Amino acid sequence: MANPRIPRPLFCGNWKLWGTLSDSVALATGVRDAVASLSAADVAVGPGFVALSTVAEKLKGSALGVASQDGYWEVKGAFTGEVAMAQIANAGATYAIVGHSERRQYFGETDETVARKAKAALAHGLIPIICIGETLAERDAGQALAVVARQLDGATKTLTDDELCKSVIAYEPVWAIGTGRVATPAQAQEIHASIRAQLTRRLQARAQQIRILYGGSVKPDNIADLMREKDIDGALVGGASLTVDSFAKIVKEGTSACTRS
Ligand code: PGA
Repeated sequence: MANPRIPRPLFCGNWKLWGTLSDSVALATGVRDAVASLSAADVAVGPGFVALSTVAEKLKGSALGVASQDGYWEVKGAFTGEVAMAQIANAGATYAIVGHSERRQYFGETDETVARKAKAALAHGLIPIICIGETLAERDAGQALAVVARQLDGATKTLTDDELCKSVIAYEPVWAIGTGRVATPAQAQEIHASIRAQLTRRLQARAQQIRILYGGSVKPDNIADLMREKDIDGALVGGASLTVDSFAKIVKEGTSACTRS
């Protein structure tokens, strides 16, 4: 049975540290053309900061959105190396990924900094894609649900209800990122359902409209089964978003899996 979708699915590429400026423009325009006929989902690409404004400029007038991979909450000041959410919005992005596990793991991101980034993204008209997810050790210790609940609460408690309703949540189990080891649809759905329940306790029926993406080794051949799950509303895609062919397949297979009757 197909999932009666309430939120519009979202498929977002996360290119991480990849590509020259011309690589980025070629990939973005290739994706734009490949998904141009698709109207039942939102799609975005996530280039590095250096390519962000050029890619956004090339995509102007198309339905393909642009996501930054991070962003800082201050607007200006002595913060060498940081890129402000205000600058990201001004460069033409629609989304800002915040709290990716690589940023938590390698760059000291905490629930508190993720919360500040999400709040700042919203203040500048960006949609934050707030990433949460447990490590393998935490899963093996039976703590996956508790870790995800804590991260979700920590990253969203300073948002107003209206801000939270505009946000996107991405569940990305750390053990599935870049490993080829995708969560089973049932494993992912269990966590997504718990995220939805937590959002529902705060927002009641409005929680149904919040998109909860899955991320971690999403590929063209596993997206359809994931998208058939009730609370999986799209995907955050790393490695498989780096070619037009595989990302476009993910978008198409994923969209038809949740819109077919
Ligand atoms: P992956 O990365 O698809 O390469 O596993 C996902 C992510 O880190 O967002």
